Amino acid sequence: MSTAPVPELAETATACADRLHAADSVLVASHIDADGLTSAAVADAALERAGIEHEQVFFEQLDAEHIDRLATANHDTVLFTDFGSGQLDDIVPHEEAGAFTPVIADHHQPADAETEFHLNPLLVGLNGARELSGAGAAYVLARALERDGVDNRDLAATAVVGAVGDMQDSDGELHGANAALVEEGVAAGALAEAKDLAVYGKQTRPLPKLLEYATDTYVPGISNSYSGAVEFLDGLDVACRDGDEEWKRWVDLTDDERQSVASALVRHAVSRGVPASKIERLVATTYTLTDEPEGTELRDASEFSTLLNATARYDRADVGLAVCLGDRTGALETARQLLRTHRRNLSEGLTWVKDNGVTDAGNLQWFDAGEEIRATIVGIVAGMSMGVDGVDRSKPVIAFARESETETKVSSRGTSALVRQGLDLSVVMGEAGEAVGGGGGGHDVAAGATIPAGEEERFIEHADEIVGDQLG
Ligand code: C5P
Ligand code: C5P
Ligand code: ZN
Repeated sequence: MSTAPVPELAETATACADRLHAADSVLVASHIDADGLTSAAVADAALERAGIEHEQVFFEQLDAEHIDRLATANHDTVLFTDFGSGQLDDIVPHEEAGAFTPVIADHHQPADAETEFHLNPLLVGLNGARELSGAGAAYVLARALERDGVDNRDLAATAVVGAVGDMQDSDGELHGANAALVEEGVAAGALAEAKDLAVYGKQTRPLPKLLEYATDTYVPGISNSYSGAVEFLDGLDVACRDGDEEWKRWVDLTDDERQSVASALVRHAVSRGVPASKIERLVATTYTLTDEPEGTELRDASEFSTLLNATARYDRADVGLAVCLGDRTGALETARQLLRTHRRNLSEGLTWVKDNGVTDAGNLQWFDAGEEIRATIVGIVAGMSMGVDGVDRSKPVIAFARESETETKVSSRGTSALVRQGLDLSVVMGEAGEAVGGGGGGHDVAAGATIPAGEEERFIEHADEIVGDQLG
């Protein structure tokens, strides 16, 4: 085995890897979002290369009943990735009863119970919302699993897709342990990083669509305006079309052409009075998967992660996992179809929030989407809603969606500025959830809960008070 990518985690990673090598068979249980899928892909690939027998299952949330079911499956070891830490109170009793040995590679806030094979950045003083994701934790484990000349560094590219899927680059680039992973991916020839225009869809979107949909930094006259974007592009001394009609994509431009478009966009934004602090955010680090074909969703970490969310959050984790593991035929085609639905759902969800607005509770703001937004994507919509008119970025957003007849899904999103002021949404979701007979957890900047239907109002009262205490 070569050097550990994250020294703080090296000892635990080695212990976890030794345990996995000693297992008869491993059941891998993972979360159903981009980070969960990539954590599963990294773990599965590493176990495969190590010759360790394994099977894979996915859950939307890991609850006590799911864990009971894992205990009756025929595996002596259960590897939890991108969840497990928050559910230790339900896992450890099974370990004590001898049902299975848990190995955990996660980055969520841990529950009170402790276990031996527990790999989590939060346990060694690293930030679990910014420095390492579930896929990152799985990658650290994958490196420790290496034996007999196996080199798992290529898996860093998949791990970076997970980190980006969890928005760990939300301030423009990846940091800390994540940056160490990027370095290994680059060294292995699987990844490249570059400063580039910070817009989504550089690989696949025609240029006017790219700029029209780029609303994170709102550029008046171009953002949200197809005709404005066309006028802007046609006014440049850059060939933005192939022939007369067909628009090029960002990847089709040369480096010089990209530079010209980016500079012109910045000049345009300045002339329209966009403040310098926002203009800075037009440029960010992009992570490119160099082994993937140009012009596909798979080449860009951010586009790849959206493609994965489009599978797993719609009960098709099998499709996303297959794509991560290299299936470029049937699974990729299915994933692309699912992506179209996912995009439409996100756009309709955001429109719903714009039309219906949010309710101000004092310290936070909230909306109840009922059945209008799917419970598995309401968190993504809540995050996107923080940029729209009428939503106050100085208060966290809490969103409800119907999970079932009896349960409501809660998602919450904050900003890093709020976290610096003391906001910790994992505590808010955990405590307010428990107060109304449910439960929750997650990260300081993004967390969720499941509560009994009908308890939404009481939940908001508790949450508002806790947020008030944190920010007060
Ligand atoms: O369960 P998991 O940890 O994978 O999910 C993390 C969630 O937190 C993602 O939905 C991600 O979008 C969100 N997040 C966020 N802003 C951040 C960091 C994470 O909205 N700065
Ligand atoms: O579902 P959503 O995207 O809002 O989840 C945000 C974060 O909260 C994720 O990291 C998720 O794993 C976590 N979460 C949790 N317990 C829940 C719901 C969400 O730990 N009941
Ligand atoms: Zn995660």
